[in-house]
Amino acid sequence: MTTTLVERIPSLQQATATLRLSGGEEPNTNQDASQAKVNKVPPPDYKYKRFLPTFDRETKYEPLTPFEHHDPGLDALKHENPREFLQGATVNALSPNFGSEVEGIQLSKLDARGKSQLALFVAQRGVVAFRDQDFIDQSPEWQLNEWGKTFGRLHIHPTSGAPEGYPEFHLVYRDGAPKKGLPSYNPNKLSSTGWHSDVTYEEQPPGLTTLFLYDSPSSGGDTGYVSQVEAYKRLSPPFQQFLETLSVVHSGVAQADFSRAGNRGGVVRREPVENVHPLVRRHPVTGEKALFVNKQFSRYIVGLKSEESDAILDLLYTHIAQGHDFQIRAKWKPKTVVLWDNRITAHTAIGDYSPERDGFRHGSRITPQAERPFL
Ligand code: SIN
Repeated sequence: MTTTLVERIPSLQQATATLRLSGGEEPNTNQDASQAKVNKVPPPDYKYKRFLPTFDRETKYEPLTPFEHHDPGLDALKHENPREFLQGATVNALSPNFGSEVEGIQLSKLDARGKSQLALFVAQRGVVAFRDQDFIDQSPEWQLNEWGKTFGRLHIHPTSGAPEGYPEFHLVYRDGAPKKGLPSYNPNKLSSTGWHSDVTYEEQPPGLTTLFLYDSPSSGGDTGYVSQVEAYKRLSPPFQQFLETLSVVHSGVAQADFSRAGNRGGVVRREPVENVHPLVRRHPVTGEKALFVNKQFSRYIVGLKSEESDAILDLLYTHIAQGHDFQIRAKWKPKTVVLWDNRITAHTAIGDYSPERDGFRHGSRITPQAERPFL
C-alpha cells in the first residue's frame, strides 16, 4: 500500500490540520475579534446589491486600440504649490518612502486642478488611503465618467464580474456561500499572497487606480502594496544597468484560460493579448524608474536563455515579495478609498479572513489605462 508524504510525517499532518483550521472550517479558538454577528453573504436588504458581480456571457469586446494618454499629474508640475489640494487635511506617511493616509478632504469635491495635484501626489507616494469619503455613495456614472476618466481611458477587464450595465467596474468579491466551482483562493497553496500590478499584459497598462469596498470583513482582508521604485533602487548599479537593457513578455492567456475553465464566472469578454514592456520603466511625471515585472503576468525576458530569464525573474519576484522595508499594508475601514499608481507599485489581496466567520468582502476597482511603458 502506498502512503502520501503527509501520512508518513506526523509534523506535516499537524501542519495540514492547522491550515485547514485557518481556512475557517472549524471554530477558531484564537479569535480575538468582536463576536458581533457578521454577514457571510450579502443580506436581502444589502444597500449595494446592484453592484454585486454579474457575468455577461453574450457581450464580446473588440481588441483594445492604442490611444494617446495625457497624464493629469503633468499639469500639477506647473502649479506653484502642487499640494494645495491637501490644505486642511491631515496627512500621515504609512512608511517613510512609500504610502500615505489622508483625512479631512473629500475626493468628490476636487476640481480639475485638485485632481491633477492628486495624480502627482499618488505618483510621488505610490499609494494613498483616503478616509471618510462619500465616494462610495456617488452615482456609478459620476464614479466612472467624472472621476475615473479624468485619469485615463477606462479599462474593461477581460474576465472579471461587473455590476449589470457597468462593465468598467472590476469587482472584488468573496463570500461564504457554498462554492460550486473552485474556491477563489487555492487551497493547495501555502499562501494566498499574489503580488502583481494590474493587467500588465495590455499595451497600455493602467496608471492611477481607485479601489473602494462596499463591505469588508470584521477583521482581515487588507491590501498589501510594494514600491517598485524602491525595489529598483535597492539593486546594485551594475545590475540596474543590465536590467535596463531588457524587455519582458507579459501575457493575459493564463488568466483567460483560468476563467474559461469555469473559474471566476467563466467569462472571457475580450481575447487575451501579450505585449512586450521594458523591465525597468520610467514614470512620465516624476521621472522615477521602477521595476515592471510581476509573477502573475510577466512570462520571460526577451532574448535570454530560459534558465537565465527564470533566474532573473525569480530573483526579482523574491526581492519584491520579501521587501517589507518597502511595503505597506492598507487597512480597510468603512468609507475608505485607496488610490495607487499601478505603473510603479504592485499589490496583493490578503486572504487571511474567512467569509464564513468574518463576513463577506465586496469592492470595486476603477482602472484607467495610461501610456505605453517606456524607459
Ligand atoms: C486588486 O488586485 O486589484 C484588488 C486588491 C484587493 O482586493 O485587495
